[in-house]
Amino acid sequence: MAMPMKKPVHAIILAAGQGKRMKSAKPKVLHLVGGTPMLGHVLTTAAAAGVSSSHLVLGHGAEQVQAWLARFGDGAPPTAMQTKQLGTGHAVLQALPEIPDSALVVILYGDVPLVSAETLRALIAAAGQGLALVTVHLPQPHGYGRIVRDSAGRVTGIVEEKDADETQRAICEVNTGLLATSAKRLKRWLAHVKNDNAAGEYYLTDVVGLAAKDHVPINTVTAASAQEVSGVNDPLQLAQAERAYQRLHAERLQREGLYLADPARFDLRGTLKIGQDVQIDVGVIVEGEVELGDNVRIGPYCVLRNVRIGAGTQVDAHSVLDTAEVGARCNIGPFARLRPGALLGDGVHIGNFVEIKKSTIGNGSKANHLSYVGDAVIGERVNIGAGVITCNYDGVNKHTTVIGDDAFIGTDSQLVAPVTIGRAAYIAAGSTIAKNAPEDALTINRAREQKSISGWKRPTRKGGPT
Ligand code: UD1
Ligand code: CA
Repeated sequence: MAMPMKKPVHAIILAAGQGKRMKSAKPKVLHLVGGTPMLGHVLTTAAAAGVSSSHLVLGHGAEQVQAWLARFGDGAPPTAMQTKQLGTGHAVLQALPEIPDSALVVILYGDVPLVSAETLRALIAAAGQGLALVTVHLPQPHGYGRIVRDSAGRVTGIVEEKDADETQRAICEVNTGLLATSAKRLKRWLAHVKNDNAAGEYYLTDVVGLAAKDHVPINTVTAASAQEVSGVNDPLQLAQAERAYQRLHAERLQREGLYLADPARFDLRGTLKIGQDVQIDVGVIVEGEVELGDNVRIGPYCVLRNVRIGAGTQVDAHSVLDTAEVGARCNIGPFARLRPGALLGDGVHIGNFVEIKKSTIGNGSKANHLSYVGDAVIGERVNIGAGVITCNYDGVNKHTTVIGDDAFIGTDSQLVAPVTIGRAAYIAAGSTIAKNAPEDALTINRAREQKSISGWKRPTRKGGPT
């Protein structure tokens, strides 16, 4: 038996409002939750719920939103301009001409970032041949449109706070704004919506009353929580949305087997893939794409941005790892910094105040204290002493330092690149190495040989002791 043809689902995402209360030069929908613009979350969730095409209605700050959308290239969602914000119904009308009559339309909001794909799927399913709304019960419904039902419990319309009488204001079931129905009907109903109300706006919500008059079935879906459907209007609500988002993802990861010391002190601003028995201490920030192997332990207050870390590696407190790869069983930190292009093998030790940039470090090599390693290719089992610096930059160009396996670089040495240190070479402490150092040999270059002067007098303070 042939399956009935499924209607294509299109979303209209309203994002034209000014967001005055944000008091920001940035358009509201570009403010970040979990490191991603709110609008990005809405687009991702819509796609996850089966929406085949999203249409954006832009107004205030449209150029900035367009600039952000450019990252999607040819895949960027189509946009419609609403130059004057004459109401939600008017906003929807700007995008509707682009949508085929045969489609089901879901109305979403660029400033309602936490709506879940499950709720959207339920909304789409509930629309069926009629209209569906997401509602929520609020003990304090002030400011919201109220859901009006008849004695049989059927929805007969939505009345906005400003237009509601006392009885209607007492209704605690409110409109979240999320709505789904056929494009064909929406076009017809919106053509009849007027702005003869307290706000002087074209209300999208008036289509619900028109649907009831047309005897179109109206179904409601209850939101999972008030938080899920909350709009962000000011920095306070943005921070509340951020906390809710973080809690949601911390708990998801805990259920996936992540051992978080404190889910309230963990921030995810991207994606995190984990192996088994991964532990993360308090105050850790995970950004971009991060992958942690089995038994990885991350100490307190680390930043992990676009890194992959192998099994059994321990990263100690206050380390910052950015766009780097770390092998298995390494010890990193405390206070270590891996910058873009740091590629560490297995069993590598990087200690406090060591900075590694665009360098490969072979298995078992160590740089335990106070070093800068940039543009270097370092072999296996190399020991980089305290205070060793690769002088990789001549003021114009960057040059490479190559260090062979088993080499020992004495403390406080400078390696002036381009330079090669041979396999098992031994560089004496305090050497400035600007020429290649051969394998298996001691190379020393100090300003002058050390001498001791007997009978030397310490300087004394002018004017005598104080
Ligand atoms: C709307 C609903 C109300 C619901 C509430 C939920 C209407 C008439 N009312 O009210 O029933 O309880 O949301 O939060 O729809 N926008 C535009 N262009 C416009 C007007 C609005 O793009 O001309 C966008 C805004 O940027 C915002 C969203 O639509 O993202 C909602 O607009 P807003 O004015 O906040 O609606 P409410 O009055 O809160
Ligand atoms: Ca409003």
